[in-house]
Amino acid sequence: MGLGRALASDDVLKYMTNHSKQNTALIIGASRGLGLAMAAEYLTRGWNVTATVRGDGRTELHDLADSADGRLTVEKVDITVPEQVAALRARVASTAFDLLFVNAAITNGDVQVTEVSTETFNRVMVTNALSPIRVVEALQDVVPPTGTIGVMSSTQGSLTRNDRAGYEVYRASKSALNQLMRSFAARHAHDPRTMLLLCPGWVRTELGGPAALLTIEESVPGVVDTIEKHAGEGGLHFVNYQDQVVPW
Ligand SMILES: NC(=O)c1ccc[n+]([C@@H]2O[C@H](COP(=O)([O-])OP(=O)(O)OC[C@H]3O[C@@H](n4cnc5c(N)ncnc54)[C@H](OP(=O)(O)O)[C@@H]3O)[C@@H](O)[C@H]2O)c1
Repeated sequence: MGLGRALASDDVLKYMTNHSKQNTALIIGASRGLGLAMAAEYLTRGWNVTATVRGDGRTELHDLADSADGRLTVEKVDITVPEQVAALRARVASTAFDLLFVNAAITNGDVQVTEVSTETFNRVMVTNALSPIRVVEALQDVVPPTGTIGVMSSTQGSLTRNDRAGYEVYRASKSALNQLMRSFAARHAHDPRTMLLLCPGWVRTELGGPAALLTIEESVPGVVDTIEKHAGEGGLHFVNYQDQVVPW
């Protein structure tokens, strides 16, 4: 049976239904590091992926797209620019994503808060706390009731676990992110979608630094396994890459 004939038949409706079951992820901040590796991991698991870079230059994500048989779409957004977030929302509006995952963040290093300029404090807070939640607010409609909305947090954002300071502004930005995500979840108390704050462990990336305990390969499959384990569960969870609960 030719495709033209099939397109008019019930058989093809079944065919399209089966093929539309392919999972889709939208990963924000995937030019390098953990976001890039998450995009690669989801492709390996058969998902269709849309992932973002921020600049105009070519990145490893573009190289990955070249070898992904059309299953990886590269989009552009700087999460600190609301107009760019709105434009991204408009571009992806017709796609339903099983996963929206906001990975992007920055660090200002291991600096005591007393040494930090107001400008740096604002930049880290706006990038790591305000902007991810704005992305979640702006893009949440592309995630169906069965989907997951995830944000990369950090155990550094745990108030309970902070008994030795260090990375004080980065730490505070992740605590603020967690709090904002809790507010989002509280405002969507009857929302069936799963919401996750994920800690990937301490990983050797540009942000994690060369002394970090884990390689990207040791972290990211666990991050993705953890997201998959919680799929369809509902509620808000703060967990690490081994699906261990992180205390608030
Ligand atoms: N590595 C660790 O040990 C560790 C531990 C705990 C949590 N985390 C979290 O894991 C996530 C990924 O970290 P990573 O280690 O992979 O860091 P990374 O290698 O420095 O990568 C950061 C990513 O975020 C993007 N990004 C930064 N600011 C952005 C903005 N304003 N708009 C859009 N994209 C932006 C970067 O894009 P550009 O290439 O354009 O800069 C890059 O793709 C972060 O949320 C981080 O806080 C990491």
